[in-house]
Formats: sequence, C-alpha cells, structure tokens
Amino acid sequence: MPYAHITGWGMSVPEPVMTNDDLARIVDTNDQWIRERTGIRERRIARENDFPSTLGTSAALRALSVANLKPSDLDLIICATSTPEHLFPATACLIQDNLGATRAGAFDLLAACTGFIYGLNMAAQSIRSGAIKNALVVGTETLSRFVDWTDRNTCILFGDGAGAFVVQASEQPGGILSAVMHSDGSGGNLLTLPAGGSRHPATEATIREGRHYIYMDGREVFRFATKVMASSTEEALRAAGLAKDDVSVIIPHQANFRIIDAAARGLKLPIDRFVINVDRYGNTSTASIPIAAVEAVERGRVKAGDKVVFVGFGAGLTWGALVAEWSGPLPSPRKVNVGRYRLLGRVLSVLRRIERFIEGLIWGRRA
Ligand code: UT7
Repeated sequence: MPYAHITGWGMSVPEPVMTNDDLARIVDTNDQWIRERTGIRERRIARENDFPSTLGTSAALRALSVANLKPSDLDLIICATSTPEHLFPATACLIQDNLGATRAGAFDLLAACTGFIYGLNMAAQSIRSGAIKNALVVGTETLSRFVDWTDRNTCILFGDGAGAFVVQASEQPGGILSAVMHSDGSGGNLLTLPAGGSRHPATEATIREGRHYIYMDGREVFRFATKVMASSTEEALRAAGLAKDDVSVIIPHQANFRIIDAAARGLKLPIDRFVINVDRYGNTSTASIPIAAVEAVERGRVKAGDKVVFVGFGAGLTWGALVAEWSGPLPSPRKVNVGRYRLLGRVLSVLRRIERFIEGLIWGRRA
C-alpha cells in the first residue's frame, strides 16, 4: 500500500492589512479588548480583484514549486472553502483551470474551518487506495465579503488568505499517519451563513434582514472548541500509535489564542509546542492551518521526520485532527519551473474555450 506524503506547501495572503485600530474606527471596539479576548492584532483583507480562486491558485503554484511537480501531474484537486465563489461551479474547478491541471478531478469540500483536515484526509485515503498518485489540497477564503462590518462580535475575528499542500504517493513509509473526523449537526445554528442557499435564496427580505452575513454564537462556539481540540488530538495520536511527547509541533486552527491556550492546558503540553499566528491573520477558516504550517516550515520549526498534529473545529459543527510525519519533496531528477504555469494555464483555458466554440459551430449549436 502506498504512503501519502506532504511534499509541497504554499500560502498567499492579500496585501492590505487591517489593524485593530482600523476596526475601532468603524465599530465600537478597541485594540486592547480584541488582543486580550482573541490574541488578534491584525488581519489581511482581500482587494477587489482577490478571490478564493486567485489566492488559492497562488498558494497552489508555490506548493507545486516546492514539490517540484507540474500542474498536469495532478490527479485530484480538493478545495476546502467556507466562502466559495459560486454555489457552482466549484472553486476547485476555477483553480484547476487557472493552473492548467488538465488531468485532475476537482471538487469543493464544505466542512467549514475543519475543511483542510477533512480534505487532507480524503487526499491521503485516495492515494493509499492506489486510485491516484498526486493530489492538491487548498484551503482558501475571502471571509471579509461575508462579514457584517457593523457586528463587533464577528467582524473583529476573520481575515482572508489561502494555503495549499501537495500530497503524493510513495512506497517510503511515513507521511499522513492517521486522521479523525467528527460532526454534530445539532449545533449547526451556532455558526451559520443563513441565507443564499436553496433554503433561503436571496430576496429583498433576506438582504434587509442581514441574513447573508456570518451569524455566530461566540460563547457557545468557544465552549465547544475548548472541549474538542484536546480530545481529537488525543484520538488521532492514539490512532497513529504515538504519544504526546513524540509530537514536535501542533498546528491548530487559528480562531482565538484563548482556545489554543485551553487546548494546551487540556493536553498538558507547553504552549510553545503550538504554532500560533492568529495575531497576524485572524481566523482565515480553512486557510488557517496551511498558512500556519507554511510559516512554521519556513521558520525552521518543522523539519523532515518531525511528527506534526493538525487540529481544527468549525461550523457544522465539525472537528477533527490529523497526524503526519513531515516529509518534504520526493527525490526527482527533473527541475520543474512552475513560474511559467500561471501563463500556460491561461493559454490552455483560452484554447479550450476556442475549441468549444468551434465544436459548437460544427454541430450547428451557434446558428
Ligand atoms: O472558526 C470558528 C469560529 N469562531 C470562533 O472560534 C469563535 C469562538 N468564540 C470566541 O472566540 C469568543 O467568544 C469571542 C472572541 C467571539 C468573544 O469573546 P468572549 O470572551 O466570549 O466575549 P463575550 O461575547 O462573552 O462578551 C463579553 C463582553 C460583552 O459585554 P458585557 O455584556 O459583558 O457588557 C460584549 O458585549 O464584551 C463585549 N464585546 C466587545 N467589546 C469590545 C463583545 N465583542 C466586543 C468587541 N469589542 N469586539
């Protein structure tokens, strides 16, 4: 049975920074409250031309470059996102098209902030089954477009960004060792985007009532999160046959410093075992774990052979954890220049459209 290794990683965040002081100018809050209750100092906010697909594509190209893999080598693209660009087509297909990943299947996965862990686990299982060899998992968000900027309970928390991993098959033991996934739909009302789906399609009333914005019962979500972070970490470690002390770092969903601190206490682990960057990006939902992972690798906190735990929770409710032995790129005789694939992806996309147009003429559909 092949093993599923994490061989590439990349992130992309929009340039504009919104500080707590910036927020205090538009809503009744202040820097001290936000820092003390959440640990957040600033977050990135998408520019007009930043979308989940554009941020996700940039993160993906960086991940492919680390893995030394061409987009056309990909068999599968999973995009975990809580802010898809459309109900359909899937944001994963927009990324597939941008990359020119012409051989890949692509779909979106909606498990809110736990989505990246679910996606990694799905990619690993597809690889272990022998069905595919190379997968791309992307977590990408523009939450700022669904935030009510007059609601101080939520607007202080969220930020935009993307992260991506390449997962590849190898006979070498290691890589993704275990994962646990959980859900409890009875808590679906605690964190929700009520309208815009098929139950409450957009109407004048849904817009007037502000039902296209994120609604959250912060205290209840907080209570839930502090319970499940430690328990799912322990469960995934048991499944991998590892002890807490075998773990080099835990990379948690970045929602609130106090939630991570509670998890550290629950696990009786020092807080410096956790990767924390919520101060600079806020909560970027599905993107928070891969962004934290990329920064940890780039700062030398994660090295090949290290045992790493990813753990998260989110709307649904969903939660889960995944244990991996960090791999790094697989040996390869060739050097792929991923830089040119952004342009090549555009060219391929235009050619496909022209091909469809000509086919339409031949079959008489465009009379
Ligand atoms: O990916 C999952 C996403 N969600 C989460 O992880 C959220 C989990 N929940 C949380 O992180 C926290 O519950 C919050 C950060 C949202 C809120 O912190 P809290 O310590 O639970 O505050 P609270 O809601 O209990 O409010 C305490 C006080 C209230 O005032 P009173 O009633 O005690 O007078 C609020 O009105 O703080 C007030 N408050 C604020 N004050 C200044 C609430 N939001 C703000 C604010 N600035 N932004």
